[in-house]
Formats: sequence, structure tokens, C-alpha cells
Amino acid sequence: MRTLLDVPRRMVRGTMERLLAPFGARALERMIEDGLPARLAPALRFLFSGEAPAAAEEAACTIEGLRAQIAARPEAYRFAVSDSALGPVRLAERAGKTNAVVTSDHLATSVSVPKRWGVFLHLCAEAFDAKTILEMGACVGISSAYFASIRSRPHVITLEGSPPLALLARESLAAVSDRGEVIVGAFEETLVVTLDRLAETGEKVDVAFVDGHHEEAATLHYVETISRHLAGTALIILDDIYLYEGMWRAWQTLSSGSSVIAVNAGRFGLLVYERGRPAGRRYDLARYTGRWRVGGERARILAEERARDRA
Ligand SMILES: C[S@@+](CC[C@H](N)C(=O)[O-])C[C@H]1O[C@@H](n2cnc3c(N)ncnc32)[C@H](O)[C@@H]1O
Repeated sequence: MRTLLDVPRRMVRGTMERLLAPFGARALERMIEDGLPARLAPALRFLFSGEAPAAAEEAACTIEGLRAQIAARPEAYRFAVSDSALGPVRLAERAGKTNAVVTSDHLATSVSVPKRWGVFLHLCAEAFDAKTILEMGACVGISSAYFASIRSRPHVITLEGSPPLALLARESLAAVSDRGEVIVGAFEETLVVTLDRLAETGEKVDVAFVDGHHEEAATLHYVETISRHLAGTALIILDDIYLYEGMWRAWQTLSSGSSVIAVNAGRFGLLVYERGRPAGRRYDLARYTGRWRVGGERARILAEERARDRA
């Protein structure tokens, strides 16, 4: 939920990002010389310059308009928590006036990826000239729309466990592409079925975005499963690597794999797979893209929300 502290917090964050940017830009160029995949340079440079190509800005303008429309909707939700073999699952369901705890505004502005990181996702997908993009966690479809609006008009498949949110995601995707698909159901079921379906038609995943079920075991399992269906050159993006100790441990494990080049961009962890290229390398830009700490303020708020959901 928005609080009075949000505005000063945003201002501090913006000032910090501007102060750190020149240092980050220089560190990035050194890392590129040292082997960080150059194809990621435009996306990573954007984090420091704030400048995106006109087409990306145009897409962002449309998507931010969609976000504003969803935020203004009257529907409200509550989270229902259930247990699974891969850790607790939290899914939004429609709520009445008396038990509503999550507004449409909260889903669109706080749960969904903000504009800066949405444009970054868009530029990452451009960098891999993605034809097939798999997303785990659509919410209301903001990140899906950022992916779907890249120039290659990719097939975007997004998995979402909450039926009312999947409906909204479908509308968001349809507003920018006729090649989007929202698959409704628990990841534990839909991921394998979806990957098998892609395999039947010989479609490989160029870019995957894991943005839901942020538990250590779940994250490791999903990345392992997706990695068997990747194109020769591919990218897996993990959201919220600093969210909890468990997510941080998952990132540490995955980023030290011998078959990937790992880039810690702060909010996101990037795992680059490039067949025939030396792997087993790690690059860290987090200290230049914001203030990231394992289990910070967001973790505290989420822990409180979870306790309330279970009550
Ligand atoms: C952080 S939100 C996704 C935000 C979205 N990617 C964006 O930035 O616009 C995570 C979503 O994943 C869904 N989710 C979480 N765990 C899930 C699971 N085990 N199966 C299916 N959906 C799940 C939630 O319902 C939620 O909508």
C-alpha cells in the first residue's frame, strides 16, 4: 500500500541512482572489456543513462498508460496462501469490501515491475532478439507487455495462478500484441506442460523471466526445468534476488554454475547461456543500480502481509 513516506523514499532513491550512475557506467565498460556479454550492453547502459531508444520509449508510454488504467480499477483482492512441495504459494483472489487488503492500484504500481525495470526487461529481450519468451508470474500483465512489445513480435507465454489477475494480464497483452498467451494455473503444473508443448513444435525459449513463487527450492527447480528448453543463446532473468535469504541463496547457487555467465544487476539476476562461449563468470553491478540488501524493507512488509494472509 502507498504510504506518506513513499514520495520522500522515491526522491532519495532517484538521487542515489543519479549519483551512482557515472560510476556504474564506467564499471560496466570495464566489465564488457573483461568478457561481460556485449549484447547486454544497451540494456545495462540504460540503467545508468536512463536513455532508451525511441521505440522502447514509445512502448513504455503505451504500457504505462495501461498500468494507470488498471490502477484506477475499483476491484480489490486478498491473498490466499496454500502450501506446495516447493514452498508456500500466495495467489490473489477477488475480495469483497470487508476482506479486501490489496487494491488494483497496489497490484499495478507496487507488485508489478516499475517503468525503469520494465524498459530494462524490454531491452534485454531485444538484446537476445527473442522470438519466444516465457514468463512465470503475469500479475496484471505489465512485464509481459514490456516483453511483447519488442520489435521481433515474440510469442510471449506467461503463467499465472490467479484467475482474476490472468484476465487482466490477457487484456494488457492483447493491447500490445496478438502473439501473447496467458496460461492459468499453478506453476508446478503449467510449467512442464507449457515447455512440453513448445518442445513438440520445436520452439526453444530465448528469454525466461522467473517472477513469482520467490522461494529458494522453487526458484532452483524452475530454473533447472527451463534450462533444458533454452535456445543456444538465451537468457534467464530472476526477479527479487535480494528479497529474502532464500532468494539470495538461490541466486548464489545459480550464478556460480559453470555453464552460465551471471550478471547481478541489483533487482534482477541475469543468467546468460551462450553455447560455445567460455562460461562460469560472474559480474556484479548491483552497488551501482540502487540500494540492495538481503531482506530489506520489502521483505519486512511482505512478512507482515503473509502473517495477515494466514490469519
Ligand atoms: C510479482 S507478481 C508478477 C509481476 C509481473 N511479472 C510484473 O512485473 O508485471 C508474481 C505473480 O506470480 C503469481 N504466482 C506466484 N506463485 C505462483 C505459483 N506457484 N503458481 C502460479 N502463479 C504464481 C502471483 O499470482 C503473482 O501474480
